Amino acid sequence: MRILVIGSGGREHALVWKIAQSKLCAKLFCAPGNGGIAQIAECIDVQADDISGLLEFARKEKIDLTVVGPEKALALGIVDEFTKAKLKIFGPNKQAANLEASKVFSKELMAKYKVPTAKFKVFDSPDEAKKYIEVNGAPCVVKADGLAAGKGVVVAKTVDEAKDAVTSMMQDKVFGDAGKKIIIEECLMGQEASILVITDSKEVVALASAQDHKRIFDHDQGANTGGMGAYSPAPIVTADILKEVLDKIIYRTIDGLAKEGIDYRGVLYAGIMLTKEGPQALEFNVRFGDPETQAILPRLKSDLVEVMLAASVGKLSKIGALKWDSRVCVCVVCSAGGYPGNYSQGQEISGLDSAAKLADVVVFHAGTKKIKDKILTSGGRVLGVTGLGSTIKEAIDKTYQVVGKISFEGMHYRKDIGRRAIEGS
Ligand code: AMP
Ligand code: GLY
Repeated sequence: MRILVIGSGGREHALVWKIAQSKLCAKLFCAPGNGGIAQIAECIDVQADDISGLLEFARKEKIDLTVVGPEKALALGIVDEFTKAKLKIFGPNKQAANLEASKVFSKELMAKYKVPTAKFKVFDSPDEAKKYIEVNGAPCVVKADGLAAGKGVVVAKTVDEAKDAVTSMMQDKVFGDAGKKIIIEECLMGQEASILVITDSKEVVALASAQDHKRIFDHDQGANTGGMGAYSPAPIVTADILKEVLDKIIYRTIDGLAKEGIDYRGVLYAGIMLTKEGPQALEFNVRFGDPETQAILPRLKSDLVEVMLAASVGKLSKIGALKWDSRVCVCVVCSAGGYPGNYSQGQEISGLDSAAKLADVVVFHAGTKKIKDKILTSGGRVLGVTGLGSTIKEAIDKTYQVVGKISFEGMHYRKDIGRRAIEGS
């Protein structure tokens, strides 16, 4: 098969790396890709949100399966366009992608179909929102309705912080139209986990659990980022908890969408808070997580292409439970100095060759480009160094050993990725 992966981050490198191992894959393209992806797939100069450019390429190159990484293309309706053109594509259609593209849609669907989630209220007036905050107090969580590159959520400890979030989202319009409506919700307490499944709207196959580390600094301090590291499996997600998440969150959502006439195919990612009252849904993403995917896919023994193909044509029932490597996988993100704020680009990365020689280690590229024979930084999150070990400790030690071999000017990484899985807190 001729396969096209859309996107340019660490998640897409992990997808390309796994797809390249499939016996079904004869030729692999990535649009636009990055410096690491270029070593295993042909990168093409079409941006991930250029739907007509991607469609033209897929037609011309007779692509048999397209796999969409980022949410933006999904929210723009790439799946609808490809399906109309009779091209197979893995991902949800535009209506289904609203589960991530509109938090109001997502929360209202959860409320209607009794998916456990934080109590919430929707506002389209900043004055009403601020009044509500004054009456109900803090802590609370303020969320922009639309896509805001992972930055549209403020967990406010004080009334002032919450009101400031309303001002910046609704009045200063820092996220543009994404902040036209907002949600104010109850602040939940507990540990978080990411549960990803692949579905064809009827069957569901669960991927291995994972845990992300969203803050920039150790001990979950500092600004929220796209994710500074992940590990899989997440020991807090026991078989019982997974069952509860599947029954009460995943199936209710997919069935609820079906009742609304929306067919969900692709990956469904549920961000979960494990509260004293049981698992509650924090959010849905309609795509693979980043960096969770980098920690999950190295453990997957089954052929991912077979699974994605089956889901895209509604035949997931033909695929049984997925097979997993029992080892633990840890991914440590190396970011550019200053990220998630301003950062410089174009720094040369050294040590990648010696890292590539080690067994059970993969260095996924997130923000890199290849210029002649050099790999340079080109994004905030630069690399996802990933290692497998028979215990979480072994996986952590191996991964950090590799991180120690790599350097670029200003390189930053958290030193506590995976520690929670050992300490259980
Ligand atoms: P979201 O994009 O909705 O997942 O939110 C980003 C992060 O904000 C989550 O990973 C949580 O850490 C936090 N968060 C979101 N909603 C809540 C909530 N209701 N209570 C506590 N923390 C939350
Ligand atoms: N790791 C969080 C996300 O993919 O949105």
